[in-house]
Amino acid sequence: MFAEIFLVCIFAAILENHLNKHVMKKILVIGATGQIGSELTMELRKRYGNESVVAGYIHGAEPTGELKTSGPSAITDVTDRQSLETAVTQYGIDTIYNMAALLSVVAESKPTLAWKIGIDGLWNVLEVARLHGCAVFTPSSIGSFGPETPAVETPQDTVQRPRTMYGVTKVTTELLSDYYYNKYGVDTRAVRFPGIISNVTPPGGGTTDYAVDIYYSAVKGEKFVCPIAEGTLMDMMYMPDALEAAITLMEADPKKLKHRNAFNIAAMSFAPETIYAEIKKQIPEFEMTYDVDPLKQGIANSWPDKLDDTCAREEWGWKPRYDLQAMTTDMIEKLRLKLK
Ligand code: SER
Repeated sequence: MFAEIFLVCIFAAILENHLNKHVMKKILVIGATGQIGSELTMELRKRYGNESVVAGYIHGAEPTGELKTSGPSAITDVTDRQSLETAVTQYGIDTIYNMAALLSVVAESKPTLAWKIGIDGLWNVLEVARLHGCAVFTPSSIGSFGPETPAVETPQDTVQRPRTMYGVTKVTTELLSDYYYNKYGVDTRAVRFPGIISNVTPPGGGTTDYAVDIYYSAVKGEKFVCPIAEGTLMDMMYMPDALEAAITLMEADPKKLKHRNAFNIAAMSFAPETIYAEIKKQIPEFEMTYDVDPLKQGIANSWPDKLDDTCAREEWGWKPRYDLQAMTTDMIEKLRLKLK
């Protein structure tokens, strides 16, 4: 008898947990051929089924390979609201991952375009979400902070006065996303991504790209010229943890979220000499020199060294799996296969 009551209680707890979760059924990934979008789309397809995840792309960046063949895709240009509306209605979308953006270095040379994609585009995404009842994830970044922000253990709620156009668009993204939640009840949620390190699709024009490029040079047997100065600390994260963060947050019980746009998340913080030393442990002949790029260095100097991610841990159970050593082992293994 006791055993039966016990089993019923366990079943009720599991059911309650399931009902409290946000359930994504039909998902659209905008920017599905980009660095994060390409892996996020495949991970979501693994978890939710191939037909349930639409890869949104723009002309000139069409999906290829498994991304193209494993599930549906649609043109979704954030600057063209009609294209979003068409994809959302055609596929009955209830959750949108909006991964369209220009990264920090490119945004400095194309500020108008960065605003057009980051903010005018976001407005289109949020309007379509409001009209069709979709939840929306639009990432923010460590780039949303500036030189006046406390650099070490950067709090969740603190000064955000970035000096880059990328940062300006990211702070605006956070504000506009919160506005749509408070005013219209659109279920917007996001994290502040650090530099993301991955081995499938290369990043395009960020300040943290050196931490990806260094692995390609090491595995190819080339010398690496680092554009970021020794001693420059920045938060970084391995792609599997970044994907887990985006998906876990969107599945989280909304009652537990005190914050929404956007959560600090952290996994590791290092300077160029530390990642170099870690790679050298596994590839002893690897060599690195410095040729500091003033634009990238200026941006890096204005960003925090290390975020405090307590709120993400407490409100939705954030917990990274990879540290620098585990990531380095995996990156080298994957790139050896890829570049063979
Ligand atoms: N990886 C981004 C950049 O360097 C930061 O979020 O621009």
